[in-house]
Amino acid sequence: MIDDGHLDLSSHDAFSGGVPHRTFARLRAEEPVHWTPEHDGGRGFWSVTRHADILTANGNNAVFSSGQGIRIEDQTREEYLARRTFQETDPPEHRITRKLVNPAFSRPAITRYEAMIRSLAAEIVDEALSNDEFDAVEVLAKRLPMMMLGRILGVPDADLPWLVEKGDALIGNSDPDFTDTVIDKMDTQAYRFMPFRSPAGVELYDYADAVLRGDKPVDPEGVLARVMAANAADGVMEARDFKNFFCLLVAAGNDTTRYSISMALYELTRDPSLLAQLRSGTVWDTAADEFIRLASPTMHFRRTATGDTELGGQAIRAGDKVILWFVSGNRDAQVFDQPDRVNLARNPNPHLAFGQGGVHLCLGMWLARLEIRVLLEELSSRLAGIEALGEPAWTRSNFICGVKSLPVRIRR
Ligand code: HEM
Repeated sequence: MIDDGHLDLSSHDAFSGGVPHRTFARLRAEEPVHWTPEHDGGRGFWSVTRHADILTANGNNAVFSSGQGIRIEDQTREEYLARRTFQETDPPEHRITRKLVNPAFSRPAITRYEAMIRSLAAEIVDEALSNDEFDAVEVLAKRLPMMMLGRILGVPDADLPWLVEKGDALIGNSDPDFTDTVIDKMDTQAYRFMPFRSPAGVELYDYADAVLRGDKPVDPEGVLARVMAANAADGVMEARDFKNFFCLLVAAGNDTTRYSISMALYELTRDPSLLAQLRSGTVWDTAADEFIRLASPTMHFRRTATGDTELGGQAIRAGDKVILWFVSGNRDAQVFDQPDRVNLARNPNPHLAFGQGGVHLCLGMWLARLEIRVLLEELSSRLAGIEALGEPAWTRSNFICGVKSLPVRIRR
């Protein structure tokens, strides 16, 4: 779909050729808090497009609450309760689980994985570069996040391709390349109590049940075993919470990092000078965040207004859905000099891709940053050039943005 500056942000098709950046740029300039009707029976939502307004709303969860769902889809109270994780709660409730799982994701905890990440990345890159032509997403971007998800969760490597396929089906529930049950094209009523309203949720629940029963042994050092042990002591999570938490990690811990890496690879094919900059070794402290800013893989999260309020000069009524378009804030020229340009040395880089400024700040951000950096370090040290052999294919989704395939030819 051609982005004429007026695309419908409620439509997945509007994103199937990549992010409609012209539409977001127009909204930031003309109508920064924009009423977006939904044509499929949804009740419509406010699109918040400017960096400053996103930060304001994200920092005020008493008024802009996560406690009625965080995606555009309207949910009944029952559906919400069945599917929610701590990401769909506000403080003080949110803090209970966050405190429990935070230590496993802290910067020092993740730094301990660096040697492991490096050796996995080296293996992945060596194998990829043994061919001259390949799909960069499949063989370079996808594998490291998948392997590390396994290490973090503590599940066997043999299960990972299956888990990733199911995670893709959850988060890519509007893309026919990832699921047969496309959310806006078929009746998904039967799955309304499942994560992402997806049949893959049923299968992931079964897997999590097997973990809970002890039928699927997990590494005692992994997050799942730690949560179960802490739970045995003080019962923070019910079985359903555990299963939803598991689905959240399988979904969130996988595609987002993949799509940041695939955005980096796409940019490398577009501008050969970027590879030279990476190889110079001078931009490693800043490059990963610049690629993450440009990728903004989770394009938005939703809040719901708890009372009548105002945002960016726009009146908002109690109960209205408010969509924080991080992907738009990340290209706001009020904050970023030449926002559409790749500047690997950008510093500071106050992007919002991890939900900065809010209590739900991404738990996986240190892991994601390290994976992206190390993979690119290992790749750039072995690569003389990379060119695209065709156009990238983008996810069909107004929630998750990414290059899902990119045929390339490389030079060593
Ligand atoms: C570049 C990669 C990633 C991006 C862009 C990203 C993006 C985000 C964003 C925007 C949020 C905030 C959601 C909100 O405000 O409601 C978030 C939260 C979260 N992310 Fe990530 N994420 C990434 C990687 C990961 C990884 C690798 C993991 C786990 C292995 C992860 C796990 C989580 C969890 C558990 C939360 C919920 C935190 C809470 O509610 O307190 N993410 N992520």
